[in-house]
Amino acid sequence: MDKYYLTTAIDYVNGAPHIGHAYEKILTDIIAKHYTQRCDDVFFLTGTDEHGIKIQKTAAAKGISPKELCDENAQKFKDAWKALDIDYTRFIRTTDEDHEAIVQKIFKKLVEKGDIYKHSYEGLYCSGCECFLNPKDLTEDGLCPDHLKKPEVVKEENYFFKLSKYKDAIIKHIKAHPDFIVPQFRANEVLNQLEDIQDISVSRAKSNVQWGIDVLDDPEQSIYVWIDALSNYITALGYDTENPSDMFKKYWPVDVHVVGKDILKFHSIYWPAILLALDLPLPKHIFAHGWITIDETKMSKSLGNVISPTGVLESFNLTIPDPLRYYMATSAPCGRDGNYSDDDFKEKVNAHLANSMGNLLNRTLSMLVKYFDGEVKEEFKADSDLYKLALDTVKKVKTHFDFFEISEAAQEIVQLVDVTNKYVTDNAPWTLAKEEKMTECGQVLTTVLEIMCVVSALIYPYCPNIAKEMARQLSFDLNTKLDDLTCNNIKTGKLITKEEIKPVFLRVDSELADKSQKVKA
Ligand code: ME8
Ligand code: MG
Repeated sequence: MDKYYLTTAIDYVNGAPHIGHAYEKILTDIIAKHYTQRCDDVFFLTGTDEHGIKIQKTAAAKGISPKELCDENAQKFKDAWKALDIDYTRFIRTTDEDHEAIVQKIFKKLVEKGDIYKHSYEGLYCSGCECFLNPKDLTEDGLCPDHLKKPEVVKEENYFFKLSKYKDAIIKHIKAHPDFIVPQFRANEVLNQLEDIQDISVSRAKSNVQWGIDVLDDPEQSIYVWIDALSNYITALGYDTENPSDMFKKYWPVDVHVVGKDILKFHSIYWPAILLALDLPLPKHIFAHGWITIDETKMSKSLGNVISPTGVLESFNLTIPDPLRYYMATSAPCGRDGNYSDDDFKEKVNAHLANSMGNLLNRTLSMLVKYFDGEVKEEFKADSDLYKLALDTVKKVKTHFDFFEISEAAQEIVQLVDVTNKYVTDNAPWTLAKEEKMTECGQVLTTVLEIMCVVSALIYPYCPNIAKEMARQLSFDLNTKLDDLTCNNIKTGKLITKEEIKPVFLRVDSELADKSQKVKA
């Protein structure tokens, strides 16, 4: 594997980021960090989607310009991702000059090819979705099923993209590539949606939507959000620029687009059709994650239950994002909906990160100091059945990541820690020490430390700060690639002193929870 290119959805900037946005960015960052452990060249793209009627209206209501609103809110997304240790390669904004210029060229190319044509149209527009809705998809009361708002009747002359022309090719591609849409159960939904697919509007009249990229040669029209937004995946790489960097050649096609299930249609039908029209290869995978609810309730501004990710960190007085990353990443099986609740959060991270994993390392190192003054002797290094389990776990974790099973991969790691905890209980090194079986005692401790090196590598994508602290105490090189991992990392000699041992993760204190701080977005 010589490169790995991955992207998230780009978020609308009509508000601050909430925990649902954070969920997606955390998942993608975990996948990115995992792949840095498998290849040298990872490109991770995220950003914000800034044009459209929704932004225009929100800005007008606030009495500021759309650009001011975008600048203000895009910064909030960047700040949140920083607090969550989301290490993107580029943060693209659809108001970036390079993006806008390439989008205009893409549009022009498709017009010249005859795949975009002008057409007079009357339709039902939902500004929440930023798209025209099919009347048959509305609720009984004629509302948008997602936003429960009445769509606007829009009558305009728009440009249309010949989506229907690519219908058969896309159906064929989905059927021929069972791993194109992940998880697979979503592919059937997409195939159903493809049944009655029609050409789509790709521009809006300037008189109705001013906040958009102009159509070249037709200033009465602005390019409609989706063709603008979806193109970010190639404009960010400098697609079709005068001085093409090698970036596009190197990274395209994308290895995975990570998006929410609500926008899978745009990514698995519209976007592939645009790419086919541009004669470009299709994405390798589109991974559609589920939705996060709060206390089993859909998040909404009107319910006042919208949770901000940095609010969670603040309310629990957390100095590292690791527990939130871990909790979100394990909140649902691949592609299914997950839930956030304060109680569940505390319980899970305390159990998994503090009690099981953190404690195991802490007491093992403490025993090494107590019985051996922190020194690993040559005769402590013996083979163990656990090593096979650890290296098998590495393989299983890799396979789970191949299928974007982030939560399932974490379960494998937890299981390895559980088995190792049981190994300590069963072998009772404290009893061995009492019986003065010092070599056996040292062997048990060293075995556990070897496993903990592997655990620190595997947990790194989820909990980078905790992993670094574990690795520091183990003198383990976290830059080791997964394929080079062995169970021979612990060097003989003095490993650690009493003063150098510290808990890698402190239990989240229930007293610090303050729900009121969290409702922020
Ligand atoms: O759809 N749980 O932007 P967006 C999990 N700009 N994921 C959630 C969520 C929740 N409660 N709420 C939102 C857009 N998301 C477009 C995308 S991509 C070229 C353009 C996810 O701000 C949602 O599924 O409405 C989507 O993937 C992302 O957040 C941005 O949503
Ligand atoms: Mg949305």
